[in-house]
This record gives sequence, C-alpha cells and structure tokens, in this order.
Amino acid sequence: MSFQQQQQQQAFFEQQISGHSIFIKLNDGEFVAKSHSIENNNEQNFYEWIQHIDGYQEFFSQYNGVVILEKNQEISKQETINSQQKWLDTLISKRYNPNNKKYLILENLTQNSSNLRILDLKLGYSVEKQSHIQRYQDSTSSKVGLRICGMKIQENNELVLFKDKHWGRTISVQELIESLKIFFSLKNRNQILKEAIEKLESLKQFIISHCKQVTSWQGTSLLLIYRDDNDFKIKLIDFSNTKVDLESTQINTEIIKALNSLQDIIKQI
Ligand SMILES: Nc1ncnc2c1ncn2[C@@H]1O[C@H](COP(=O)(O)OP(=O)(O)O)[C@@H](O)[C@H]1O
Ligand SMILES: [Mg+2]
Repeated sequence: MSFQQQQQQQAFFEQQISGHSIFIKLNDGEFVAKSHSIENNNEQNFYEWIQHIDGYQEFFSQYNGVVILEKNQEISKQETINSQQKWLDTLISKRYNPNNKKYLILENLTQNSSNLRILDLKLGYSVEKQSHIQRYQDSTSSKVGLRICGMKIQENNELVLFKDKHWGRTISVQELIESLKIFFSLKNRNQILKEAIEKLESLKQFIISHCKQVTSWQGTSLLLIYRDDNDFKIKLIDFSNTKVDLESTQINTEIIKALNSLQDIIKQI
C-alpha cells in the first residue's frame, strides 16, 4: 500500500505513553509516523545510519524513511476516556501542529497487541542540556541511570495502571524497583525475567560491536513491551539528541552502565 493510500487511514496512536512528539498510526497500525523535530535532524540522521547495520531491527524499530503527511481528513481519536487517554489528549491539543508535516515512518512495536505492558525507561546518569540537569540530579537517573518516563499495564483489555514522566521524576530508587516488580508480575515471570537479562546482554554486545560511531545517546529510552501471548521485547527508541560521528572509535560507556544497572535490578527482583 502506498503512503498516499495510508493517509486515508490516519489515527492518533493510542499506545503512546510518553514524549512530546506526535505519533500517527498509519495503515491500520502497521507503522507509526513520529513527527520530525523542528529543531534538529538527529533522529533522522541516526536512523539513516543504523538502518545499514545488519540485524538492527532486533534492538530498534524498523525504519521506513521520511514522509510528508498531508492532513486530508480529520485524524481519528480513541473514544474511551482513561488516564492514559487524558494524557494523550493533552499532548495532542498542546503539540499537534498540522503545519509540521514531516514524519519518520517506524515499525509499530505494539501492533495487533492486546493486554500490553509498556515501560519507557530513559537511560543515562547525566545530561548536558542545562534545563534538564536538575531532573537528572533529583531523580533515579543520577543514582541508577534509569528513569521511568511512562508505564502502562492493560489486563483483560482494561487499563489497570498508567504512570507518566512527571511521576517518574519524583520516585525513589526503591519505588522504581517496585514498579519493575509490578511490570514483571506475570504468570511466566521467571521465564520473562530470564529473557530480559539475555536480551539486555545481546543489546550491550550489539552496541559494543556496532555502535562506536554513536558519541552520545542522551535522551534515549529503552522501551520494554510485553504482550499477552508471552511475547517480550526490548527496543531502544528516541534519538532526538543522539549524535553519530563516523570517525569515532570509542564505545559510549554511559549507556552500557545504565543497561548493566537495569540487568542488576532485574536480577534482584
Ligand atoms: N516504534 C514505536 N512503536 C510503538 N510505540 C512507540 C514507538 N516509538 C515510540 N513509541 C511510543 O511513543 C512514546 C514516545 O516516543 P519517543 O520516541 O520517546 O518520543 P519523544 O522524542 O517525543 O520523546 C514512547 O514512550 C512509546 O510509548
Ligand atoms: Mg522520549
């Protein structure tokens, strides 16, 4: 199906749990279109670079290029009102700009899923951007290199828990650990925890082997997604502050440290 036809089927993406960007679901949810930053090209540059690395789709959303979305109809919205939907409605009313038509087309990591559990964990202990320093220093970021930016749990097709980034900034390390326990409170908990540790190990190996060119991963999140049918994945998302330097030969240790920290927490819970 061409993107022209897909534009007939635009809806705001109901599984978005965090961020400033607008996500539009295309083609019945096969792809999501993430609004392109008006400030920089970092995210597009990142995906244009990583898409050439074999096997990147195991750890990143598959990238399908850039598209200009013409607003040719009202973009449909979810009807049900719950706390996540309220958060999303506020985001759309504040941030949706029909004149900003450039979008990155990404694989929808939540496609065809019911009873989803989604956790957006921002990685990193510190930040360069002056206006963000305080929120790193005052939160779990500075202590364990992890901060919850959004969390959602659905059971029996009902939303049972939704937490946003403002909450994530206020909690202690102990509360973050408790939240991970809740996220992983599953029937097949032990198997999924084992999978999580293995996937984190593979992700670190991928970064060490293939990502020396990334000089900064600031603002990048790890998205943990669990679906009813025992499908569990972890993917890195959000590269709006990521910097790629083709000459770089040094591994970025900060992201590895944050992933190690997550592995340590998962081993304890
Ligand atoms: N490829 C994807 N598939 C499904 N959901 C996604 C995808 N990328 C991002 N999201 C959702 O959108 C949220 C915000 O994404 P992110 O890339 O961090 O945007 P921002 O740059 O605005 O922070 C994530 O927390 C997640 O819920
Ligand atoms: Mg984000």
